[in-house]
Amino acid sequence: MRTQSELGHAIEEAREQTDALFRAVRPDSFYERPIPERHRIVFYLGHVEAFDWNLIGRYALDRRPFHAGFDHLFAFGIDPPPGQLPSDRPSDWPSLAEVDRYNQRVRDEIDELIDEVPGQLLHVALEHRLMHAETFAYILHQLDYERKVAPALPPEMETARPPQPRMVEIPTGTAQLGLHGPGLDDTSLDDNATFGWDNEFQALAVDTPAFSMAKHKVTNGEYLEFVRAGAAAPFFWVERAGRWRYRGMFAEIPLPLDWPVYVTHSEAEAYAKWRGGALPTEAQFHRAASLTHKESEANFDFRRWEPVSVHANDSGSAAHANHNGAVAHADSRSRARQPADVGSADGQHPLPNGRGSVEALSQVEALSQVEALSQLAARSQIETPSQLVGNGWEWTSTVFAPFPGFTPFPFYRNYSEPFFDGRHYVLKGASPRTAGRLARPSFRNWFRPSYPYIYATFRLVEP
Ligand SMILES: [Fe+2]
Repeated sequence: MRTQSELGHAIEEAREQTDALFRAVRPDSFYERPIPERHRIVFYLGHVEAFDWNLIGRYALDRRPFHAGFDHLFAFGIDPPPGQLPSDRPSDWPSLAEVDRYNQRVRDEIDELIDEVPGQLLHVALEHRLMHAETFAYILHQLDYERKVAPALPPEMETARPPQPRMVEIPTGTAQLGLHGPGLDDTSLDDNATFGWDNEFQALAVDTPAFSMAKHKVTNGEYLEFVRAGAAAPFFWVERAGRWRYRGMFAEIPLPLDWPVYVTHSEAEAYAKWRGGALPTEAQFHRAASLTHKESEANFDFRRWEPVSVHANDSGSAAHANHNGAVAHADSRSRARQPADVGSADGQHPLPNGRGSVEALSQVEALSQVEALSQLAARSQIETPSQLVGNGWEWTSTVFAPFPGFTPFPFYRNYSEPFFDGRHYVLKGASPRTAGRLARPSFRNWFRPSYPYIYATFRLVEP
């Protein structure tokens, strides 16, 4: 039987991930606020532990607080409307030594109690921390280079000319969104498909007419044409002596023309309009992702700090999904790729997964749909979009809203609900700094349309 100790091990690994990020901050820089709309760095140092303590120690196990002031101070992040920035001062925050002591006590207490904690709450603590491993990377990205300690970096991929933009056809079909559930008693790592956040429930089938989708994400090189036509430069670019450069996590580099461009939703929409296309809906993204094969070198799960070329994962192959959700290549041209193992714990695309999607269809319908697709793939060697997972979240045109049957978690009512305000858009996929377990098909990310700090890319569709 899968036990809490396995989730405990995953939490341990996630702690190492967040610890490594804080080690990249110079000790004299924890009271900086690199993003004006977010808290100072010291808040995040205390927040991931305070969240765990408030959820597990206080809510689940009703333990007495040992530092109620910190439990409250570090409880909540912020997402202010434009123009309403926080105004606290460094002196409003405790010393790093005090926060470190609090953090260590939280970890000791939780590790002691872990066998008593419901699996769902351990999943929540784990994924909350992993999400902060990404959102804290955004904050770290904006901290001055001289305030950071660069870890050992992987070698940068060579950049090349961007590929010619081209569209691939996505046939009519059903997009399967969300999860059946809620899997309240799940404590398993291998069966992570049953854990989801409140906004992933309930499962939803959406009929999706045929459409064309770009093979690749929009590149810096393509977006540069838009800038030369008068659009403002993206937030991650800077002009030096008449040349555009990319502001990376640890260094500025000449603008890599074949990397995806990081943009806001508003910029992505404006570009799409300029090119005569549109952003995909959330359902269209799911539909396309359900047809694509797993990319073994996909750029996510903390493997790199920066993007890679948009065509780094091109295989030129199509794939089909069988009724178990396993994926096999339908195209003998595919080169040296491992058969995808969807049953593995990384929760990666592709759709459909055996539980969430096929249940909604009858087994026969699912099989016939899959067979038809596989025949189509074999006959015409259809191409599918590249990098629907990894190398940058992708903006959709879908406003973040609940699926029918949405119920907030009683222990975390504000995870999604405050953001169903018509002012946040859904992103899908994953960025280089997204944990593998968060790249499951049903996971939904969302941000304000003008928030420029995130690793958000996009691609075009045509109706
Ligand atoms: Fe948080």
